[in-house]
Amino acid sequence: MSAYEQDVKYNLSESGVHPMLLSELLELKNGSLDELLATDINYAHANGRPELRENIAKMYEGATADNVLVTVGAIEANFNSLRTVLNRGDEVVIQFPNYMQVWGVAKNHDYLIKTFSLLEEKSWEPDLDTLENMVTDKTKLIAICNPNNPTGRIFREDEMDAIVRIADKAGAWILADEVYAGVEQKTDEQTPSFYGRYDKVLAVGSMSKAYGLPGLRTGWVVGPPDMIDQIWARHEYNTLSATMLSNKLAALALSEEVRPIVRQRARDYVRQGFPILEEWITRQNGNLRCVPPEAAAIAFIKYDLDINSTDLVIKLIKERSVMIVPGDHFGLDGFLRVSYGLPKDYLLGGLNAISEVLSKL
Ligand SMILES: Cc1ncc(COP(=O)(O)O)c(C=O)c1O
Repeated sequence: MSAYEQDVKYNLSESGVHPMLLSELLELKNGSLDELLATDINYAHANGRPELRENIAKMYEGATADNVLVTVGAIEANFNSLRTVLNRGDEVVIQFPNYMQVWGVAKNHDYLIKTFSLLEEKSWEPDLDTLENMVTDKTKLIAICNPNNPTGRIFREDEMDAIVRIADKAGAWILADEVYAGVEQKTDEQTPSFYGRYDKVLAVGSMSKAYGLPGLRTGWVVGPPDMIDQIWARHEYNTLSATMLSNKLAALALSEEVRPIVRQRARDYVRQGFPILEEWITRQNGNLRCVPPEAAAIAFIKYDLDINSTDLVIKLIKERSVMIVPGDHFGLDGFLRVSYGLPKDYLLGGLNAISEVLSKL
């Protein structure tokens, strides 16, 4: 993605909503510009400034700042959580399809990978029977992404309970990547966290997706303090800390008065964007279909055309300067991931550019 995303005219490959301007964020609280200008551009607390960790803790029932480590994006939270819990040869069970970072890290570090699926034919319901049979005493960690990237599927309460029960039976950790919680389509209730349901949960969040602030490069992991301290030790070797400015801006965005406004902005983008995408799908001669995502700013679309998904995406980039993500990137050729949490004209411009190529196939 990074080879093309900065150059294309229409980038419909991002998974978060359209980013906020710095001025937009600072306008949400009086005095915040002056406060920012008075920042000492020093190292921040390596584990995150207390104010930020407290604001994050408030979003997880029963958590305090001691349960929180601030990282350079959810990507670092995932990486260092895996590297702390797992050693070479350890078994990890990964939900599939998924944001493939966990799978890639597991492969690079010689963890033993097993996968359980969300089933497209059942509107992306998880195959929990397979999970139950697959998890054994050897399983050290179950990695899930909820709401899911790329499908936008949200686990039901009974599915969450089943995953916890299966993990508990094996004594396995649950690594729950929850970066899309908060941008639900049909409800203002935020997708519940796995945190607090079981003692071996590491819940990962981020400013990037549900807040539209990816350039802050700020995420976090919430878990038991002794495990958080161990992850912190690795974090300090990898990145030391998120920047002072990011810590301050993230704390502002997550403050009680500002957070609901930033959240609503992100929800408005996904709720305005999906109907546009859905209507566009109906105009593609029956070649596309999609289980409507329940959250996130992305839709995972199945296509009925005789072309490999990566070849199709390269063609779109080269011929119309529009970029989406090939199903190949998720191990599922025949699908395309398209983002829709974008300004209307930009989204329509990108979708029309895609249609021009599809209509000739
Ligand atoms: C599911 C998921 N987790 C983590 C990340 C990384 O997010 P961040 O920008 O917080 O590092 C992404 C980015 O696309 C993602 O989709």
